[in-house]
Amino acid sequence: KMDRFIADLMAKMTLEEKIGQLSLLTSDWDSTGPTMRKGYQEDIRKGRIGSVFNAFTARYTRDLQRLAVEETRLKIPLLFGYDVVHGHRTIFPISLGEAASWDLNAIEKSARISAAEAAAEGLHWTFAPMVDIARDPRWGRVSEGAGEDVYLGSRIAEARVRGFQGSDLKATDTILATVKHFAAYGAAQAGRDYNTVDISERTLRDIYLPPFKAAADAGAATFMTSFNEYDGIPASGNHYLLTDVLRDKWGFKGFVVTDYTSINEMVAHGYSKDLKQAGEQAINAGVDMDMQGAVYMENLAKSVAEGKVDVARIDAAVKAILEMKYRLGLFDDPYRYSDEAREKATVYRADFLDAARDVARRSMVLLKNDGALPLAASAKSIAVIGPLGDSKADMIGSWAAAGDRKTRPVTLLEGMQARAPKGQTVAYAKGASYAFEDSGKTDGFAEAIALAQKSDVIVAAMGERWDMTGEAASRTSLDLPGNQQALLEELKKTGKPIILVLMSGRPNSIEWANDHVDAILEAWYPGTMGGHAIADVLYGDYNPSGKLPITFPRNVGQVPIFHDMKNTGRPIDPAQPNAKYVSRYLNTPNTPLYPFGYGLSYTSFTYSPVTLSKTSIRPGEPLTATVTVTNSGARDGEEVVQLYVRDLVGSVTRPVKELKGFQKLMLKKGESRRVSFTLTDADLAFTRADMSWGSEPGQFKLWVGPSSAEGSEADFELTK
Ligand code: IFM
Repeated sequence: KMDRFIADLMAKMTLEEKIGQLSLLTSDWDSTGPTMRKGYQEDIRKGRIGSVFNAFTARYTRDLQRLAVEETRLKIPLLFGYDVVHGHRTIFPISLGEAASWDLNAIEKSARISAAEAAAEGLHWTFAPMVDIARDPRWGRVSEGAGEDVYLGSRIAEARVRGFQGSDLKATDTILATVKHFAAYGAAQAGRDYNTVDISERTLRDIYLPPFKAAADAGAATFMTSFNEYDGIPASGNHYLLTDVLRDKWGFKGFVVTDYTSINEMVAHGYSKDLKQAGEQAINAGVDMDMQGAVYMENLAKSVAEGKVDVARIDAAVKAILEMKYRLGLFDDPYRYSDEAREKATVYRADFLDAARDVARRSMVLLKNDGALPLAASAKSIAVIGPLGDSKADMIGSWAAAGDRKTRPVTLLEGMQARAPKGQTVAYAKGASYAFEDSGKTDGFAEAIALAQKSDVIVAAMGERWDMTGEAASRTSLDLPGNQQALLEELKKTGKPIILVLMSGRPNSIEWANDHVDAILEAWYPGTMGGHAIADVLYGDYNPSGKLPITFPRNVGQVPIFHDMKNTGRPIDPAQPNAKYVSRYLNTPNTPLYPFGYGLSYTSFTYSPVTLSKTSIRPGEPLTATVTVTNSGARDGEEVVQLYVRDLVGSVTRPVKELKGFQKLMLKKGESRRVSFTLTDADLAFTRADMSWGSEPGQFKLWVGPSSAEGSEADFELTK
């Protein structure tokens, strides 16, 4: 039925109307890139655009939709897209924070709620999930993805696609997902946004592509190209990525949209001599929809007339886009998502806010605790100090596009004041500034120190301003910006216990804090309900269970540093850590400050030695690794049990550890549980020396434990 409907419709379309379906423009509401386009409403009326972004609310989308379905010749409905990344109105923790929960149900639920709110405001399509593997914390966009790991990133990519799209695209609480940014955007050189990417094809295939493949297999409707080049060819003109890999190899059937003006940018890249050629390169490479560039709109008809672009290619792109409009039910009722009554009943629903609080507390990672946490009820006075202590704007982080930064977010101070037991005061002094230009200043220090001196405990709320991560927010330092570090050092001199609550969208270098404060909680940017969620953790109403989805370096000089590095020919011998002529630094250990997968709890977990069902498996045969995990502490709590593998010898060198499985368990105090993981040779596959995908026989090591740096070890063999 759908095929017939679309074929009939396309038979009526002029070339210009077809090109219109391939064009996406922003409204004048908001901009997520350097240009705005005037006259977009006139473009809708003329059928020159088929999709609009940065326009939402039931009313506004209804008004724009009316232009398309009442004033254009063929009455084809518009598709409305928007960056619904970690919540729409109800904002959840930033994506990196959600990833730290290692809780796929919670992550799926967050996307599900985001979709429900967005769809109630007229939106059909989100530009999420961002599945770029990110291993360079200088890059601001580390905050938007699931961190450094291929396996965790792939499972989270699937969960987010399921959450946004549900099982029925026609349902009015689901939206199309966009898997972005295809591909290898996270490998931008020196962590500078939009910079050149130059990685081997093996690294592309083994590290950067798997989360995209997982999302495609989960049924993601659309893909977005990245700004960077891969192997000298910008992603928006890259036939290898968009056609050979995505469509031909993976069988992707949805449509591909560019990032903001990224076709136009192929001229600056030095890949296209002008916009007309850029458009030809993009469409012929496999780009279906041009975001904001108007390159297709202005050039494609001419390119067809000159024989540079085949109409069949344009038809394929139009068909892929119309299919999505059809699957959303827009041809049945173009206004079905623009329903003001549903909007009112859906946005900021009480259960959505509760879910945002729950996901936020699950996302927090306890990095250090000398016993200062949970806060003792006996503490009479708490001093909250720092620029993030009472800042609504910062709580929701970047890419919270429709998020309210002024009134809704619950700050740390508000959350603590709401929770503090009777008789305990929670007072605030900002004390320091995170602005780069304030480094060296000391205004505000005296007030903060005075407050600290008369308090029992200091909660230092420090980190980065919300827009110091996200797009175009790269840094060459990972230090606490502004004069926060200086204030922290002054606060230490008061002798009061210090709990550092870190809010940021990247790993910061906090080695001094690790050595000198009593407890550290990574709270990321926790979202609308963030202050309550932080208070839940600080007061022990929720026992922290997050684990780092990205390595925390000791300092920026260690970057890149991640858990699945190679051994090198000259690894450090632990018996001689200071030996010369081995792969190490003179002034810093090779180990990170906090490894991937690390995170503490208010209880403790003990692991039995791992046992294997076999010590030798053949291809296709399962291997089961089992441990018993015991909650040996005094509180109920959750633990993320992690499985890592090392392939000892390969036709190409293999990482020292790779995550191959994890399970998050709730254990009551004193409770023990057997946890099993099953692997086959398919889980051991990689891009071999001849570039084929598969495993290789040989010896392997396996660990099951609480982080990438600890675990009980066993050996097994894969035979031919
Ligand atoms: O979706 C985003 C993308 O991640 C970065 N550039 C702008 C797009 C649309 O807002």
